[in-house]
Amino acid sequence: MKAVLLGATTGMGRAIARKLASRGEALFLLGLDEEDLAKSAADLSARNPSLAPVRFAVCDLEKPETFAPALDAASEALGGFDTVIVTAAMFATQDALEDDIELARRLVTVNYANTVVFCEHARKRLLARGGGKLVVFSSVAGERGRKPVAIYGSSKAGISAYLEALDHKFYSEGLRVLCVKPGFVRTGMTAGLKAPPFAGEPEDVADTVISAMDRDESVVYAPRVWSAVMTVIRALPRAVMRKVNF
Ligand SMILES: NC(=O)c1ccc[n+]([C@@H]2O[C@H](COP(=O)([O-])OP(=O)(O)OC[C@H]3O[C@@H](n4cnc5c(N)ncnc54)[C@H](OP(=O)(O)O)[C@@H]3O)[C@@H](O)[C@H]2O)c1
Repeated sequence: MKAVLLGATTGMGRAIARKLASRGEALFLLGLDEEDLAKSAADLSARNPSLAPVRFAVCDLEKPETFAPALDAASEALGGFDTVIVTAAMFATQDALEDDIELARRLVTVNYANTVVFCEHARKRLLARGGGKLVVFSSVAGERGRKPVAIYGSSKAGISAYLEALDHKFYSEGLRVLCVKPGFVRTGMTAGLKAPPFAGEPEDVADTVISAMDRDESVVYAPRVWSAVMTVIRALPRAVMRKVNF
């Protein structure tokens, strides 16, 4: 595997990067902050001395002009890539987003519009090489319009629909799209939030995602128990959803 990871300096992306590096996959990191990227790349190389040195480039989901140069740098360093993994996204509570419409605009732009644009750059490069894997983190928050995640969840609903359509459209050309739908996972993104039942750990999610990638699954809930939870939530009538607070 020659994999490009956007967002792997923290959280679930970092856990996936560490596990892929430990099995000898070639990695290239993309992210917001050059210093964080350098530290993460050095950490991966130090943990896996037999691995080719991990290299990196800055890529900001708020700046679409950084997408093509970052992916070109990855392609040059890896000699082409066959896998792109996107864990990067913004999160804010519904209260914060309702209080700050500019923050809401930034979040839906990063999580939906600009993530689609980044994926378009990535999938064109993958298809030009005959296919490959595009793995993108959506969320169970996108499964149903819910009060506590009305705005964040809508951005994830959009990305889930886009990924499903990519799978339908390009499967026959060799593109393998995996939409990851985490439930609540203990990372920096959820620090300070009350953990619900079935909360997961990044390392376990990384195992689930890598196994889904290896098996060319198209959708994976992580932890997997969230698939059953969301089956129930999807079935709840609108009258119930108006009353409950989840
Ligand atoms: N944790 C959960 O419970 C949960 C549940 C469902 C879905 N998810 C999704 O899972 C994915 C991974 O989240 P996580 O929990 O592992 O959180 P995380 O550690 O906070 O990861 C998010 C990453 O996105 C990066 N990022 C933010 N804005 C960016 C931008 N403009 N350009 C490039 N990178 C940017 C962050 O970089 P900096 O650290 O430099 O800001 C960070 O590395 C996200 O897509 C999230 O929406 C998480």
